[in-house]
Amino acid sequence: MAPSFLSVVSLFAAYIRHCFKAAGLASRTLSVDAQTTMHFWAPIHQSAHKPSVVLIHGFGLEAIWQWRRQVQILAPLFNVYVPDLLFFGGSTTNSSERSEVFQAACVGKLLDLLDLERFHVVGTSYGGMVAYNLAQMLGKERVQKVVIASSGVNMTKTDNADLLQRAQFDHIHQLLLPATPQHLRKLLSLTVHRPPKILPNFLLGDFLDKLYAENRKEKMELLKGLTIGRDSTSNISPLEQEVLIIWGEEDGIFPVQLARELKRVISEKARLELIKEASHVPQIEKAGEFNNILLNFLKG
Ligand SMILES: *[C@@H]1O[C@H](CO)[C@@H](O)[C@H](O)[C@H]1NC(C)=O
Ligand SMILES: *[C@@H]1O[C@H](CO)[C@@H](O)[C@H](O)[C@H]1NC(C)=O
Repeated sequence: MAPSFLSVVSLFAAYIRHCFKAAGLASRTLSVDAQTTMHFWAPIHQSAHKPSVVLIHGFGLEAIWQWRRQVQILAPLFNVYVPDLLFFGGSTTNSSERSEVFQAACVGKLLDLLDLERFHVVGTSYGGMVAYNLAQMLGKERVQKVVIASSGVNMTKTDNADLLQRAQFDHIHQLLLPATPQHLRKLLSLTVHRPPKILPNFLLGDFLDKLYAENRKEKMELLKGLTIGRDSTSNISPLEQEVLIIWGEEDGIFPVQLARELKRVISEKARLELIKEASHVPQIEKAGEFNNILLNFLKG
């Protein structure tokens, strides 16, 4: 492993943390129960006049890598909370539970501790499944609006098999928990519409060392512990909240068809917004467009 001062990834991580701080957020850690500790970013000064919004990251990198471009825009208007899900960033548990429902329950406990009475929730990919469960669990009294981005909440076993076929892998962890530069290249080709042309192996290796090596065993268990996508039919129940679905038209992980199906089942008046020339991470690739859609919905 390269020492931190030589690591492009560590330098960039320091820059992102600086961006979070500049937006008025602070890094904190709390025990949410006897077995579970969560790391999160929260406003240094919580404002009683602002609504609150919780951003839930996807599988892969810890929260700060996924929401940098949103935090800067949202923080002046909302109290912004950005938790790291269990086994990402500094969050961990001694519990043996690994499902997305458990992740949602832990985020719920954290928000209880923070006395967050009402809030909007935004989740991407795996985090969208967590957001969906949080909204179900707490109901519309507490969770106001729900944004599901790039997240196959309605996916089935067949969608999983299709994804493996597109990636030409046997196991989902080879794709979602890459251990070699070659696997990481594959993941990038499916998640980013226009991956950078020049990606030297040393840089990819740096990413693998710094960001994918930690808690590998537990992250594998999270993938196995997912309750979504296990059966041949999906029967999710509709949400009571107002729902916005945002998706990249070229999503290589969850094809856009899943967004259309999700819109039909998640809520009668769910809004669906597609972003052109974006794949699985429109909040990064097309941050401006993503933010406009998001703000429009949250403020409207
Ligand atoms: C898990 O258990 C160990 C040993 O009892 C303890 O030191 C650690 O703080 C626990 N972790 C969490 C997240 O509670
Ligand atoms: C999503 O749910 C709807 C309604 O339950 C169903 O008709 C559709 O086939 C589901 N999509 C998938 C991919 O399972």
